[in-house]
Amino acid sequence: MLRLDGKVALITGLGQTTDDGWGIGAAIATQLARQGATVFGGNRTLPSAERTKARIERAGGVCDVQETDVTDSTSVKALVESCMQRHGRIDILINNVGKSEPGGPADMSEAIWDQQVDLNLKSIYLTCHYVLPIMEQQATGGSVVNISSIAGLRYIGKPQVAYSATKAAIMQFTKATAVIYAPKNVRLNTVVPGLIYTPYTQALAKRYAPGGNEQEYMKMRDAQVPMGRMGDAWDVAHAVLFLVSDEARYITGQELIVDGGITSSTGRS
Ligand SMILES: NC(=O)c1ccc[n+]([C@@H]2O[C@H](COP(=O)([O-])OP(=O)(O)OC[C@H]3O[C@@H](n4cnc5c(N)ncnc54)[C@H](OP(=O)(O)O)[C@@H]3O)[C@@H](O)[C@H]2O)c1
Repeated sequence: MLRLDGKVALITGLGQTTDDGWGIGAAIATQLARQGATVFGGNRTLPSAERTKARIERAGGVCDVQETDVTDSTSVKALVESCMQRHGRIDILINNVGKSEPGGPADMSEAIWDQQVDLNLKSIYLTCHYVLPIMEQQATGGSVVNISSIAGLRYIGKPQVAYSATKAAIMQFTKATAVIYAPKNVRLNTVVPGLIYTPYTQALAKRYAPGGNEQEYMKMRDAQVPMGRMGDAWDVAHAVLFLVSDEARYITGQELIVDGGITSSTGRS
């Protein structure tokens, strides 16, 4: 079950904010490699991607990485071309890069709005622009998973309108594209993480914890979840693995929410 032997997986954002623990992209890359996929990754900073590559290789997997800016068309094209030169195919595409900037429409600068749209949304258009024509030529098609957020479904306690809007748009981009590509044997789905404990979340805690109390900030995030705890990067990676596997071959255009029950609740007393 869920084996990916012989498949090539292109993954964006497979580095992580700091060395501690696991970021979502790093966990996805490692999980897909464990299941037999050959990983090719693009990341803004190379050292951070190389840490993931080393982790995968230590476990006997195969991974190559390339410095990539997912907001830049030339850079994304170069990433896709390198993967094709090295492996001659792309079976799986994971769009993991994403970041939240705080603010509502009145206080957010136009520059931040544009950056958020480029990083969270245009990046997915760009990888799909270059990868889908390759997948549709392959007899076995392909599978794409885009990483959204429950902030694209609900207000989750702090103003981050650009993040919310772009993460919502990812879901509809994925649905519409899934319909276009269904006859071409290419599936697209979205994984929608809730509150996840990652190095990025730890960095956010440092930035936003009231009174600088990071532990309190993490406890508050845990308490928001009906299960009483945040998820981790593996919870997201396992959902991605299912959706890219052949066992999910009849599933396309869907959202798989990984949130410990938050979006099923109207609040907790
Ligand atoms: N953490 C959560 O609670 C949570 C919840 C819901 C959804 N998500 C989503 O899950 C995804 C991963 O989150 P995470 O917490 O694991 O974040 P993360 O640790 O910051 O990882 C994001 C990765 O993307 C890379 N990156 C950033 N900008 C890039 C660019 N322009 N081009 C190429 N790579 C770039 C980063 O590179 P560097 O190594 O250079 O920093 C990093 O490796 C995001 O889409 C996020 O919105 C996270």
